Amino acid sequence: TKELEAKLANLEISSDKPTLRSTKWFNRDDDKAMSALYVDRYLNYGLTREELMSNRPIIGIANSGSDLAPCNQYHTTLAKRVREGIRTAGGIAIEFPTHPIQESSRRPTATLDRNLSYLTLVELLYAYPFDGVVLLTGCDKTTPACLMAAATMNIPAICLNVGPMLNGYSKNDKIGSGTVLWKARELHAAGSIDDDELNDLVQKGTPSVGHCNTMGTASTMNALAEALGMALPGTATIPAPYRERAQCAYKTGLQIVEMVQNDRKPSDIMTRQAFENAIVANTAIGGSTNAPIHLCAVAKHMGVKLDLDDWDSIGYHIPLMVNVQPAGEMLCEEYFRAGGLPAVMAELLDQGKLHASALTCNGKSIEANVKGQHTWDRRTILAYDSPMKKDAGFLHMTGNLFDSAIMKTSVISDEFRKVFLEDPKDPNAFEAQTVVFDGPEDYYKRVETANIDERTILVMRGAGPLGYPGAAEVVNMTAPGHLLKKGLKYSLPCVGDGRQSGTSGSPSILNASPEAAENGNLAILKDGDMLRVDLNKRRVDMLLPAEEIARRREELMKNGGYKPVPSHTPYQDFFRRETGPLSEGMVFKRAVQFQRVAQK
Ligand code: FES
Ligand code: MG
Repeated sequence: TKELEAKLANLEISSDKPTLRSTKWFNRDDDKAMSALYVDRYLNYGLTREELMSNRPIIGIANSGSDLAPCNQYHTTLAKRVREGIRTAGGIAIEFPTHPIQESSRRPTATLDRNLSYLTLVELLYAYPFDGVVLLTGCDKTTPACLMAAATMNIPAICLNVGPMLNGYSKNDKIGSGTVLWKARELHAAGSIDDDELNDLVQKGTPSVGHCNTMGTASTMNALAEALGMALPGTATIPAPYRERAQCAYKTGLQIVEMVQNDRKPSDIMTRQAFENAIVANTAIGGSTNAPIHLCAVAKHMGVKLDLDDWDSIGYHIPLMVNVQPAGEMLCEEYFRAGGLPAVMAELLDQGKLHASALTCNGKSIEANVKGQHTWDRRTILAYDSPMKKDAGFLHMTGNLFDSAIMKTSVISDEFRKVFLEDPKDPNAFEAQTVVFDGPEDYYKRVETANIDERTILVMRGAGPLGYPGAAEVVNMTAPGHLLKKGLKYSLPCVGDGRQSGTSGSPSILNASPEAAENGNLAILKDGDMLRVDLNKRRVDMLLPAEEIARRREELMKNGGYKPVPSHTPYQDFFRRETGPLSEGMVFKRAVQFQRVAQK
């Protein structure tokens, strides 16, 4: 940093530098009057003409934090340090808000906003005089929305995570945000805690500014931004209130100016190799089931071929090395102190599991960034050879119920194994009867009275991108109270066309495509039907004769197909007309036709 700071601060703004994109606004040779007009309104809050017309890089700070987005709210403070870094390096910062996304309180679901935030960010980056951008990321969907926009625009871009919250505690027990909800729900359903205690327990998980302190979707997506090379090494996991967080905000500001000077763009960083590195890293950290959706979406916008078979073939055989909730016990403070992602990647590099030469935002390779940075804390980051779990990646499932769905294997517990995977002849398959819910409302209405026992598969449909606009995070369902009171020690398996919270530990088969609302076979499933799940063969099949399947399909189509909930806002309707399936990243089909739109 010292070297970079000195170099950049003394930078001569000379005419032999490459023409900046902002020149088309502020230094036009062909139309001096338009340049004067483009400059004038930025002067009214105190910028000077000299600053704007001196050919200095104009750097956007895309701020996803606001009171409406509490997980990212601390970015309103961090942005000041980003700005100081940009200024020190000779750039001019122009900060602006992105469309806010709050995972936990946005109704019906925050995923709906990922594509909206993406679209608006592309529009802003395209339409205004930015030479580069610092993307302030954090809460679940804010990170992929930013990466998708960076991919489409393809101007120099770097991510800065807001950082996880401090650890939560109840007495001396660690309380992970999000993760505690599933536990609290079960205790409440079993009658062990009352309403007040439920509130207390859940809210102990959020003790400071920052995003979820577990390995939920926020920690995952920011780790993947770093693994891709789009954030400075070692920065994803720094807790939000730590001094290192504000320090890396400053360094990120310095770095983006250097990236503009060397024209280091997303297309130089987010290559196929980088995406493969991110898939490997995702398994090792126990990353969220939302990661394949978002990473496939970023790749689509970048024009890199990546699909769910890549996730299975590249990621499945990697071990789970990080002992952080929901797959483990620790929270992000321990994980940061243990070395964070560089410590995990150092080991993956030793094992030959990474593309060592992949370029990152600081101009160095992944290898140069992480080599030798092994952990000192083997309780939090386990060795590749004695991990938490072997073969811990996602399985890409298919069968007669759907064409594509994924299963997160790192959360299959030993207790679950004993009940469902007990057959010695075929220890990776099970058959069980289903109870089928149409969306979360139907689940809440019927879960206590439906015919559910210790060996039931809970099915959720009508919860995909079309069925429940944006795809609800509801596939991870809790067993009914009467079972929990008896002391059920494992989560019932769930299958569905919606998503699952990254903080959930349910053994679920989710993101099923085609979804029920697209008249996939989930739409013809009935309570009591038997399913066979075969993990080795990667299949989920309805144990129904072909004639019965054909008969039910005919009946479904005769009745006009599966009826999803109606759209309640104009954007929900727009989303449904434009979106692709979860298996392909749920991107807007027409948006991916626009690539590298800012190329000079
Ligand atoms: Fe925002 Fe978890 S709800 S990070
Ligand atoms: Mg979530």
